[in-house]
Amino acid sequence: MVKITQSKIIWVIYAYITLKLIEQEVRVIRVKMTTFYVITLCNRGFGLIIPVLKQQIRLGVKTIMKKAIVIMSLFFALNVNAGDAEAGKTKSAMCASCHGADGNSTNPVWPKLAGQHEQYTARQLSLFKSGQRKATVMGGMVAGLSEADMQDLAAYFSSQKTNIGSSNPELLEVGKAIYQGGVKKLKIPACMACHGVAGKGNPLSGYPVLAGQHSAYTEQRLMAFKAGEVTADDDNGKIMADVAKYLSDAEIKALANYIQGLY
Ligand code: HEC
Ligand code: HEC
Repeated sequence: MVKITQSKIIWVIYAYITLKLIEQEVRVIRVKMTTFYVITLCNRGFGLIIPVLKQQIRLGVKTIMKKAIVIMSLFFALNVNAGDAEAGKTKSAMCASCHGADGNSTNPVWPKLAGQHEQYTARQLSLFKSGQRKATVMGGMVAGLSEADMQDLAAYFSSQKTNIGSSNPELLEVGKAIYQGGVKKLKIPACMACHGVAGKGNPLSGYPVLAGQHSAYTEQRLMAFKAGEVTADDDNGKIMADVAKYLSDAEIKALANYIQGLY
């Protein structure tokens, strides 16, 4: 049986769009051919028909090629290193006991992985493996994974749906205010600026989804960042240590509570 995976679906869409464009271009060429045939026939006799038609077809083919190249580059830009979600599902059996079979963990200190951007998850797995991100529990889990395994696992979890939690109404306003507006006096930027107003992050910039995450996990991450933890020796890896530096413990609790019910 043919397995339907995310990357196969993207290929089918790509092929369909390209075909449609070629079809459209062929229609345009056909209309142009008829017009020129008529014009040339009326004005100058048959002598000109062939060169004019050849020129039109050359132009048409060039346009088709150009469009195909643009679409192909777009496709590759969007689909770099895309993993195979179906293969990832099989490989995720060893993750299920902590993160849940569908990536929604029940224990609140084990993060939910469902719905997280593929590139972010793949990156964290390889950071755990290289030891750049401190991995108390995860170290042993990633030791035997190849780059392809990580990409497939990430593809699988990104295809799952996050179960959003709920926020304790008491702390909600404090958390929301910092999430949406930061704290100017302390130069704490609005979380929303990178993670989005609904906590969906930005896959192209490597900003993770936060929406719905267990507050216990988020709180633990923010405390680690506050203590200066970096996840990698690059720009993205250092951002959160700067962001969390001046957050008070109470503000961290409030943010984690707000994020748990965010969607
Ligand atoms: C024994 C429990 C356990 C198992 C099994 C486990 N994890 Fe984890 N995972 C954790 C904990 C705890 C964390 C929090 C970070 C830490 O302390 O290492 C975590 C963190 C992560 C993160 C980082 C999430 C984020 O939002 O940054 C990813 C990705 C991840 N795990 C993927 C996996 C994958 C894939 C597997 C299976 C190959 C797996 N985990 C197996 C417990 C587990
Ligand atoms: C300038 C962009 C930026 C801002 C502003 C920002 N973040 Fe982040 N955040 C990141 C990036 C990038 C990462 C992932 C780091 C990595 O990939 O190593 C991250 C990771 C996180 C994580 C870890 C997620 C996980 O699943 O483990 C949490 C929690 C988080 N941010 C919360 C916040 C909160 C709360 C604020 C506001 C106080 C905030 N962020 C502001 C860019 C930002």
